[in-house]
Amino acid sequence: MKGIILAGGSGTRLHPITLAMSKQLLPVYDKPMIYYPLSVLLLADIREVLIISTPEDLPHFEKLLGDGKNLGCQFSYAEQAVPNGLAQAFVIGEQFIGDDSVALILGDNIFYGSGFGQLIREHIDPDGAVVFASQVHDPERYGVVEFDAKRNVLSIEEKPVKPKSNFAVPGLYFYDNQVIQIAKEVEPSARGEYEITSVNNEYLKRKQLKVGLFNRGIAWLDTGTFASLNEASTFVRVIEERQGTKIGCIEEVAYYRNFIERDQVLALADRYGKSGYGDYLKKIVTPVIPA
Ligand code: DAU
Repeated sequence: MKGIILAGGSGTRLHPITLAMSKQLLPVYDKPMIYYPLSVLLLADIREVLIISTPEDLPHFEKLLGDGKNLGCQFSYAEQAVPNGLAQAFVIGEQFIGDDSVALILGDNIFYGSGFGQLIREHIDPDGAVVFASQVHDPERYGVVEFDAKRNVLSIEEKPVKPKSNFAVPGLYFYDNQVIQIAKEVEPSARGEYEITSVNNEYLKRKQLKVGLFNRGIAWLDTGTFASLNEASTFVRVIEERQGTKIGCIEEVAYYRNFIERDQVLALADRYGKSGYGDYLKKIVTPVIPA
């Protein structure tokens, strides 16, 4: 399965911070935002990743992440000239996807929780599409799942004024290869965007859409506003300082999923200077010998 990170857009809700800087490169506590979605793809054992961003920002992502070889992965890059919708990711990524299935993750979505890695690994190479539903207090800001009394999915609505449930669809989607053709046929919505929700509704119409529910133990954080960006940083800081473990550490995930070995982690640690991030990498590959 291939993976796409969509990290473009204009970030207007975060101006002036994002006037000269990509939103997905902003820090979320101790690392750039894109580390979090990238670590999710690696956690799903997806090693071939396409990063899509604006022509101006793409070189910065390339500088940060390179070709991925040092993580045992293969990263490539593609431009989205105009941010006219999430569904465009599959049109831009057509050649990259080839005949494979593909996961899409939004560059500003953060996930954390016990059992999350296992949950997403269950959805590699789906027949049809798999999306998730996560309870939120402000569903009108997202794609919202409508259920019947038996919890069958009836529809997904994009930013409904009157949401039919509190279950929003997070920015993590798994599709079979049909997605390329479906995305090409999507019509722009009333707000002029090629919506991912239209892709999901097409799968639903074909009776090929599965919706997995996140339980309360899985945190899905959004970074779309000043407040939520700040809250995400605080959340990461609280967990990291309390536990002494890191969230979204791409090198750690690559090591634990056996993409790279101890020596490679140590070589990567040297890149991080005095930030403490490198020390963390050295620590995770140093066996603790019981006294
Ligand atoms: O976060 C989950 C939500 O993401 C879903 O519940 C919605 O169904 C989905 O439409 C999307 O809603 P947003 O309002 O968050 O989408 P937004 O336009 O903010 O774009 C999400 C990210 O994708 C953002 O970091 C910018 C990037 N993006 C967006 C567009 C429209 C692109 O890279 N290219 C684009 O064309």
